[in-house]
Amino acid sequence: MLETNFLIIGSGAAGLTLAVKLAAEFPKKKITVVTKAHQSESNTKYAQGGVAAVFDLKEDSFQKHIEDTLIAGDGLCDRAVVEMVIKEGPKRLRELMAWGAKFDTDADGELTLGREGGHSEFRVIHHKDTTGNEIERTLLERANQLPNITLLPHHFAIDLITEHHFSENKTENLSCYGAYVLDQISGNIFTIKADCTTLASGGMGRVYGHTTNPAVATGDGIAMAYRAKARIQNMEFIQFHPTALYDGNNGASFLISEAVRGFGAFLRNKKGERFMLKYDERGELASRDIVSRAIDSEMKKSGDECVFLDCTHLDSDDFKKHFPTIYETCLQRTINVANDWIPVVPASHYLCGGVVVDMDGKTSVKNLFACGECSYTGLHGANRLASNSLLEALVYADCIFQYLCKHKPSRTTKAIPEWNDEGTVLLKGSEILQQKTEQLQRLMRRYAGVVRNNSDLEKASAQLEILYFEMEALYQKHKLNTALSELRNMVNVAHLIIQQSLKRKENRGGYFNEDYKKVKK
Ligand code: FAD
Ligand code: SIN
Repeated sequence: MLETNFLIIGSGAAGLTLAVKLAAEFPKKKITVVTKAHQSESNTKYAQGGVAAVFDLKEDSFQKHIEDTLIAGDGLCDRAVVEMVIKEGPKRLRELMAWGAKFDTDADGELTLGREGGHSEFRVIHHKDTTGNEIERTLLERANQLPNITLLPHHFAIDLITEHHFSENKTENLSCYGAYVLDQISGNIFTIKADCTTLASGGMGRVYGHTTNPAVATGDGIAMAYRAKARIQNMEFIQFHPTALYDGNNGASFLISEAVRGFGAFLRNKKGERFMLKYDERGELASRDIVSRAIDSEMKKSGDECVFLDCTHLDSDDFKKHFPTIYETCLQRTINVANDWIPVVPASHYLCGGVVVDMDGKTSVKNLFACGECSYTGLHGANRLASNSLLEALVYADCIFQYLCKHKPSRTTKAIPEWNDEGTVLLKGSEILQQKTEQLQRLMRRYAGVVRNNSDLEKASAQLEILYFEMEALYQKHKLNTALSELRNMVNVAHLIIQQSLKRKENRGGYFNEDYKKVKK
């Protein structure tokens, strides 16, 4: 057993920001960060467009950013949360810059601001097209300098420890005492006992297979919180990014940033029609749910497998300067953006819902906090405004930090039982898990994608139930490994998406069900 004061699950923007703040404030306390792959692997690392925050007080204002966020959220945002996050944003970014993060500036040293879908002003601060990598680099560098942070890469949190594990039959007023963690190198599962645990485990794009997210995004934190009986909300609001590079497969997809449309690129169908203006007067810069549905509709009408992003009218030197990674990645696939259109399709990108937290980042389980993409704060409502998610991760990590400065958690005297996998055997071969995972991903793409309907959702629910029992049988018989844990978590997350979709009896924000008439703009 390992004992720590603060356990943080995840080493993206949310987890690392919290870790470095706690470590500096409490030099005598122990902060343990577990992360299930290489320490930098996260959605954060791949973020391209940037972070939305109001720095230009001449043209822009907090009020405009608040209004844009509320419009995108389509009536489901929590206004107090929106106001708080947007007003805190610039402070958190200045802090990040003071820690060494470099964002693009003009000749006078002023931040250069980009614009993305749904934003009424230029307010996205960025580091070329690799903003997330710059944030991750800065935070990791700082975390590795602080001696009271223990960063454990290749450590997979498999379950939160609550009263359930002491065989106490409690369903209310539950507390969290740490987590059971799988050392992915040795295969051992051990206990981390913590005064306070924070989920910063990111998103779940892999549940759909075809996604902009890296392989780590399997919704583990949400599934663990669900099994620990924490409140989970708004799981029907999956954001599909309109422009993932189409390369004919259904696996991970390279993102063509929304900032490229902000830069002036046009969407065209195979016939060359610039179709977005038929769907929304904002054209390519409509919010991404509208753009994704428009593309879905064009593809269904034509039977084509993708649409195209046309950058050929843009200044190609300027394009290369702003988007060097996108330019190079396209070139590697023989697409020269100066002459060729980029084939794109919508792909699952971001989860607007998650583990419900209050404005201190507290979940409904005592001593369990959550921040970043795994949490539901009320900022995004039914649809997230582009580049508001890194902002939320930075601000809520600080909210939890501020709360913990005022309310210091104490160590439990309870004896924590060790993980019990008596009677289980090693699972031989990975084919069965691979097969079940692909089955789940196909099911989610087919029945719970960009456009849903109740009959499809019912089919998804029935098929998922069978998959659940098959997975449960594997789980009962075998020692947990990464692939089995991820399958177990993705099945839980898919269940939450399907059930919460069925409960929403309207079209709102990023949720679109053909059985409901009103199409919100
Ligand atoms: P992550 O950065 O995903 O970190 C989660 C961490 O938890 C990872 O280290 C992971 O390994 C770890 N983890 C997960 N499960 C476990 C487990 N069971 N045990 C241990 N560790 C675990 N947002 C913007 O605001 N602006 C953008 O420009 C932007 N661009 C994006 C581009 C792409 C391609 C993608 C995929 C996302 C983009 N987003 C963007 C969204 C944004 O990057 C994420 O929402 C944000 O980075 C989430 O940060 P996080 O710290 O909550 O999670
Ligand atoms: C992008 O660069 O298009 C992604 C921005 C985001 O997800 O906020």
